[in-house]
Amino acid sequence: MTEHRVGSMSELAENVGIAVDIGDKRIAIFRRGEDVFAIDETCPHRGAPLHQGTVLDGIVICPWHQWQFDLRTGCSPVNPLSRVETYAVRIEDGVIFVEMGER
Ligand code: FES
Repeated sequence: MTEHRVGSMSELAENVGIAVDIGDKRIAIFRRGEDVFAIDETCPHRGAPLHQGTVLDGIVICPWHQWQFDLRTGCSPVNPLSRVETYAVRIEDGVIFVEMGER
């Protein structure tokens, strides 16, 4: 497992996603209060960029057809078969790191 620096807390607005490339993978990063969440950027429905979604109560809503994913679990609150990958986040001195890679 490798940690990747993806930005700093001062660059992230509340509930406004950003997309970050780590290797050949694109992930979406969201800030909620002092917590940060990292999920797959690509919606499993038709591939919309999830960082452009709306966040309500810790749920990101896909900008294209409104599928929903919990930022903590990656699971849809309405369809248990629909989910996106989530990644561990660590914050140190305001710097955000995401864990990815082989365990
Ligand atoms: S592409 Fe995300 S809900 Fe359709």
